[in-house]
Amino acid sequence: MRTYNFSAGPAMLPAAALEIARAEMLEWRDGMSVMEVSHRSKEFSDVIAHAEQQVRDLLKVPDGYHVIFMQGGATAQFSAIPLNLLGTRGLADYAVTGMWGKKAAKEAQKYCEVNIVASSEGDGFNHIPDFKTWKRNEYSAYCHITPNETIGGVEFHQFPETNDVPLVADMSSTLFSRPIDVEKFGLIYASAQKNFGPAGIALVIVRDDLLQATPKWCPSMLEYKPQIEEKSCLNTPPTFVIYMISLVLDWMTTEGGLSVLAKRNEEKARRLYEYIDGTDFYRNPVEPHCRSWMNVPFLLKDDRLDNAFKAGSKAAGLENLAGHRSVGGMRASIYNAMPIEGVDALITFMKDFAQKNG
Ligand SMILES: Cc1ncc(COP(=O)(O)O)c(C=O)c1O
Repeated sequence: MRTYNFSAGPAMLPAAALEIARAEMLEWRDGMSVMEVSHRSKEFSDVIAHAEQQVRDLLKVPDGYHVIFMQGGATAQFSAIPLNLLGTRGLADYAVTGMWGKKAAKEAQKYCEVNIVASSEGDGFNHIPDFKTWKRNEYSAYCHITPNETIGGVEFHQFPETNDVPLVADMSSTLFSRPIDVEKFGLIYASAQKNFGPAGIALVIVRDDLLQATPKWCPSMLEYKPQIEEKSCLNTPPTFVIYMISLVLDWMTTEGGLSVLAKRNEEKARRLYEYIDGTDFYRNPVEPHCRSWMNVPFLLKDDRLDNAFKAGSKAAGLENLAGHRSVGGMRASIYNAMPIEGVDALITFMKDFAQKNG
């Protein structure tokens, strides 16, 4: 029986997509598995083209934006972004609202001066500093934000106006959870293993006019222009991962698209936060206006009970509820593929645990 997997990533995938992959595992086309087919073949080129089209349709990507699949996950993008977007400018703005934004800023410091426009680190990354207090620099090549911080569970529900400075967003743990206005962003990137596939790929959506010449020493694998020209096949891409992504995107379409998924995701988060806020046994440390729909961290009132909670939830078929190793406590990641029944099962377990140990 499949368990409810609350992992932050690699995360639960829709069973319907996995079932198609299982059925096609040995014979996908011409008696071969998709893993055995050339990435240059017509069959596989169709898979990439279909996945790209699904991304464009689901997110309503306007003309003038490129959609590419790149290796190295979101972490490789921490380097690729400054390398491709800085041009002759030596400065970039970064908002640090959690551990991932901090990592992105640290990596960018290898390539340019980094202006930290705002940071909530002093408060344990429990909020998003008011946009009015951001110290942006109009000469920056771009302004980088992390709309959903996977570890802290802090999410932007509105985006700052950055005028002429393009907004660049690491949407790894929120992309496809709801409709977004792509036009607000110069570049969006996301690793697949949370909301739309297995690990190994970052999806990059970049506006054409932002592409700059990269330094001579920039590895070709991190350059956007050749990846765009080669339609994400500059070298051999992880073909199975891209095939799985296309199945998961098909599933999203079959479910009714991002507006339907958004309603479901909002409801899942609402139920969980409502329960947590209504008891003094559990606590969510994030300010209510910027709580994440996708990653819900929570602390038990007595951390000596943490191990019993982890063991008990596992025994109840609720997997991977331990918080990130850097912060402890618990975290429930409730991406698209987590059904509402999974969240209800978690709340039932939490109630029972609190009753027995309160
Ligand atoms: C917001 C965010 N950015 C970046 C990453 C890194 O992704 P990857 O491991 O695919 O490089 C993660 C992974 O958890 C993440 O949650």
